[in-house]
Amino acid sequence: MRHLMSPMDFSVEELENLMDLAEDIQNVPAKYAHKCDGRILATCFYEPSTRTRLSFESAMLRLGGKVLGFATADSSSAAKGESVSDTIRIISSYADICAMRHPKEGAPMVAASKSWIPVINAGDGGHQHPTQTLTDLMTIRSLKGSLSDMTIGLCGDLKFGRTVHSLINALIRYENVSFVFISPPELRIPDYIREDVLIKNNIPFKEVIKLDDVMPELDILYMTRVQRERFFNEEDYVRLKDFYILNKEKMSLAKKDMMVLHPLPRVNEISVEVDDDERAMYFKQVRYGMFIRMALILTLLELV
Ligand code: CP
Repeated sequence: MRHLMSPMDFSVEELENLMDLAEDIQNVPAKYAHKCDGRILATCFYEPSTRTRLSFESAMLRLGGKVLGFATADSSSAAKGESVSDTIRIISSYADICAMRHPKEGAPMVAASKSWIPVINAGDGGHQHPTQTLTDLMTIRSLKGSLSDMTIGLCGDLKFGRTVHSLINALIRYENVSFVFISPPELRIPDYIREDVLIKNNIPFKEVIKLDDVMPELDILYMTRVQRERFFNEEDYVRLKDFYILNKEKMSLAKKDMMVLHPLPRVNEISVEVDDDERAMYFKQVRYGMFIRMALILTLLELV
């Protein structure tokens, strides 16, 4: 039995197979419409979500399976003090696979260690968000044709943004990828990413504060929101929340084929005037997320 806790749980070859499968599902959905007949997905979300939870549910329903679960910790027995370890044992009796989001880093890993069914980390605190990374990889591969040879700028809350941490871990395995980290000093990438992931693997990167200065060199700009829910005080959040706002003026500095991605939800960091720019890919990105989650469910349930 296999779980997904981090994008590193899959080799590059396995990721390619997963993306190939997702592409086939996208092209020939009827071939997969009954693959999960009789199977049940549990979505156990202790933190709010729109995309991740609903795309997992849509993915399972489109595969012919059924879904159950809870969308907030308050509506589960966590509110009465039940541990994640106990909850997953219960869920294991009701479902065949579980997607779990939790505010505590490592909680899905604890669940996986006690589970009798595959567990997917659907986001744990400020740590990892592997299925968002699968989504991002598939979006880049589908729209750019490759995951190699690019300069990617990651902008915003690089400290708490778990999608950023997972994406860096995944992309360092591809050829000729360099990173530009754009953040206020308070929201720089964590030391463990800088030291243990980038420096240790000789990955080229630089850290800057001003977005305008680096726009012309980027092939991809990955915007992120400032993660209000991870701040210790509201004052810091208010001071930093509008540090970056991508607008038409900034887009005019970028390459003609630069791609703008965002895991969403967006708050203010991308002005709505950018939505009509043909380089804005963040709404397309969402749809890739559903196909890759369909591929992931099939793979973890060993139905391919
Ligand atoms: N990208 C993402 O994780 O969105 P949700 O929080 O809405 O699931």
